[in-house]
Amino acid sequence: MTGAVLGAALAAVLGERYVVRGDEADTKFRRDVLGKYLGDPLFLVRPGSTDEVAAVVRLAGEHGASVTVVGGQTGTVGGAIAEPGGIALSLDRMDRVLEIDTDGMSMTVEAGCVLQIAQEAAEAEGAFLPLDLGSRGSATIGGAIAMNAGGNRVLRWGMMRDMVTGLEVVLADGTVVSALTPMIKDNAGYAWKHLMIGSEGTLGIVTRAVLRLRPRPASDQTALVALADFSAVTRLLRSLEVRLGGRMSSFELMWREFYTAMTEAQLGTRPRPMAEGQAFYALIEMLGGDPEGDPDQFEGALVAAIEQGLVVDAVIAKSGKEREALWAVREDMAGGLAAYRPFVVYDVSMALGAMPGFAAEVRARIEAAYPGARMLFYGHAGDGNLHIIVHVGPEGEALEPAVDALVYEAVRRVGGSIAAEHGIGRSRTGFLGHTRSPEEIALMWRIKHALDPAGLLNPGKVIL
Ligand code: LAC
Ligand code: ZN
Repeated sequence: MTGAVLGAALAAVLGERYVVRGDEADTKFRRDVLGKYLGDPLFLVRPGSTDEVAAVVRLAGEHGASVTVVGGQTGTVGGAIAEPGGIALSLDRMDRVLEIDTDGMSMTVEAGCVLQIAQEAAEAEGAFLPLDLGSRGSATIGGAIAMNAGGNRVLRWGMMRDMVTGLEVVLADGTVVSALTPMIKDNAGYAWKHLMIGSEGTLGIVTRAVLRLRPRPASDQTALVALADFSAVTRLLRSLEVRLGGRMSSFELMWREFYTAMTEAQLGTRPRPMAEGQAFYALIEMLGGDPEGDPDQFEGALVAAIEQGLVVDAVIAKSGKEREALWAVREDMAGGLAAYRPFVVYDVSMALGAMPGFAAEVRARIEAAYPGARMLFYGHAGDGNLHIIVHVGPEGEALEPAVDALVYEAVRRVGGSIAAEHGIGRSRTGFLGHTRSPEEIALMWRIKHALDPAGLLNPGKVIL
């Protein structure tokens, strides 16, 4: 009865109420946002401090039980799904913003803090945490670090990796490594924190972090534009990067079918922000510092793009409400996706020039293999990150490995990445070799063995 002994030991450290049997745990700790995975751990534990996390990891090691951190469960690849016989560890009690330094522009947060809470805390102090994702209301900072989240503003401020200056982690042997520094420049020895960021909980457990903040922008400009072909998309992106003086913060691209599906679901028969039927739509955001001058500069850049023939139609938001309505086209996807369930969502990346050919090829191959399949293409074009929603029919889940193989073969041919921002998790382990060389994967194993020789931390994920 390893389970009973381990359970008693965990309860002795954390208190009875913070240890529950896995099958009795609320499914919010076990089920992912798409409802594809349901974890089956022996226990769910909810430690209240870094030392308690370390104690759980030590006990897990003594009992040979694995530890998987479960965060906001907004991942799409099963990366935060606990393994049978293992421990699901939630940091939902460690969810505080501990400090905001508006002189040094940094914030210290606990890993269980929800992204939107961190964003709002920064904003209340006149500061700005640039990381932004559609799942901001559930995703946690720890989860975003564990998989190096990207999202809507990578174009300007980079990924989570670029915002983490300090990190506290618990290693597989229970050692706490605490380096909660706000320093941006810190090149004393190996950058071990970057090994942890994006390791999806397989090398260590993030418990606290120091994040770099920026001064809060004083103006935001948002537009939706329509474009006739991909060459115009590329040229517009590059010209706005120059014309907006580096202040463009989002360039979100939507293929025609995406725009139609989302606006139909959101607006029914009400008027669209602009007519359907163009090849591409792009949502563009500029965050600036001059509320008087910025609107003119933004409009001027778009007018120039129209005059150059890059943009065929444009709408600029004139109020916060209009801004939200434009963002909704891109982000409020639940209704539009209903007709595509069950679906797989891909987050591949490649050189921007390869993207239109890649999208056309994937569409053609999937349509040929699965008559009646339906797809949506969209993504963070400014980062070369393409999302594809693929629905191949009601039995889609069973076909998923075959659809994956088809998509990832195409990724391999363009020398792209199978995981731009959602990670490898559980579902993509078999395809890592489509993006990484055998030598790279062998190096990953050497790192894994050095840091977690018994394979306790989030087994079954990333490398198998
Ligand atoms: C998005 C998620 C799928 O960008 O990453 O919508
Ligand atoms: Zn995305």
